[in-house]
Amino acid sequence: MTAIETRAPGGSAGPGTNDTLTVRDDRTGKTYVIPIQQGAIKATELNKIKASPEDPGLLTYDPGFMATAAVKSSITYIDGDAGILRYRGYPIDELAGTRGFLEVAYLLLEGELPTEQQLAKWRDEIVHHTFIHENIKKFIDGFRYDGHPMGMLMSTVAALSTFYPEAKRISDVGPRRKQIVRLIAKVPTIAAFAYRHAAGLPYAYPDNDLGYAGNFLNMMWKTTELKYKPDPILERALEVLFILHADHEQNCSTSTVRVVGSARSDPYSAVAAGVGALYGPLHGGANEQVLRMLEDIGSLDRVPEHIERVRKGELRLMGFGHRVYKNYDPRAKIIKKIADQVFEVTGRNPLLDIALELEKIALEDEYFIKHKLYPNVDFYSGLIYQSMGFPVEMFPVLFAIGRTPGWLAQWEEGLLDGDQKIARPRQLYTGPEERHLVDG
Ligand code: CMC
Repeated sequence: MTAIETRAPGGSAGPGTNDTLTVRDDRTGKTYVIPIQQGAIKATELNKIKASPEDPGLLTYDPGFMATAAVKSSITYIDGDAGILRYRGYPIDELAGTRGFLEVAYLLLEGELPTEQQLAKWRDEIVHHTFIHENIKKFIDGFRYDGHPMGMLMSTVAALSTFYPEAKRISDVGPRRKQIVRLIAKVPTIAAFAYRHAAGLPYAYPDNDLGYAGNFLNMMWKTTELKYKPDPILERALEVLFILHADHEQNCSTSTVRVVGSARSDPYSAVAAGVGALYGPLHGGANEQVLRMLEDIGSLDRVPEHIERVRKGELRLMGFGHRVYKNYDPRAKIIKKIADQVFEVTGRNPLLDIALELEKIALEDEYFIKHKLYPNVDFYSGLIYQSMGFPVEMFPVLFAIGRTPGWLAQWEEGLLDGDQKIARPRQLYTGPEERHLVDG
């Protein structure tokens, strides 16, 4: 396991130091000394600050968790100002350049990269769980032909819990691990089946001779050929995209998975909730919105007009900005390179020129500089997916496939963390004082 690495906001203490924060409550004149550990104070220390004995104690008000660390984690490290992303200490570009998705999934879950033997066993386990129960197919059949595949994925993942009742035994390592394997193996199958249902195509079953990304392409595109052979460049590009999406510490969907997990729900329910959060246009749905935005802009000469509307606050530039990165998203840099390789196979995506022009103007524009808005992971990924033939509705689904191991690693880490408590934020009540019904 890697050591816990934390940023020290404002240059304050790192691990193991004995710094303190002294707070004077002007209401009472009392002074409190609060320990600072790993650059944070415990919010419950503030709770001890009371204006009177009846006072329930001071709370922090932090919508969107702008300055609240809700967990300790040793999985993913991000330094948003420096544009750094590491899984278990390894820089994302090293992993994306040399490793396979299942190796990275193993790394996220186990803390170390697998040996050759461990990887072979892990691959074998995943491959033997790629099929879904035939009744799940019937379940997917029940969706309307134009249902969004993200809605189908969310509901079908939730429905898996009814097929595996032992999933409730989250404290037993055996059943817990089994569901992790099942989820990583079955999410691509459900995703591809959702697409084929919407397209009115017969389902293509998993081909266990293929790699993780190659098999997914097989389930998406196979028609009459006896054996589907994925293009190696496209297969690798998809594998890298899955790696880039595999984890991103406490983002909205991962926090959702952890919150549901904190109630001790089964992992299918927790991951289904994560898919729901990812579906949102401010999160994983952004790649779909980027494509729709580029299509709406339509031509290079309309780019300045679009930027002007963003500057006026009429709309957001989708695929730009990030809660944590205040610098170029390191994943976006890698994606830009993959785009060139993919376009060599598929032909250049005509929307690329609009995207490049948007980026160029935005990076020089005062509004974007002032707000530290740079392209994020979603800005170019959609162009690649579209060139590979995926319909826009599938873009967030592809994100979900990549993110599944991260969700599960974070879910399990939460469960095993002695500090974990059921998530239950407090509120600042702003409603009426007690009042009574006048009609009795
Ligand atoms: N276009 C224009 N202005 C923006 C944008 C944008 N994309 N993003 C942020 N701003 C402005 C925002 O208007 C605000 O301005 P002001 O302070 O003058 O009111 C300021 O920047 C801070 O914005 P915020 O919404 O308070 O920042 P946040 O950290 O809460 O939001 C975000 C982060 C990713 C939701 C936001 O940047 C956004 O909506 N981006 C577009 C959607 C997107 O691309 N999402 C994908 C994120 S990366 C992958 C993922 O997480 O799934």
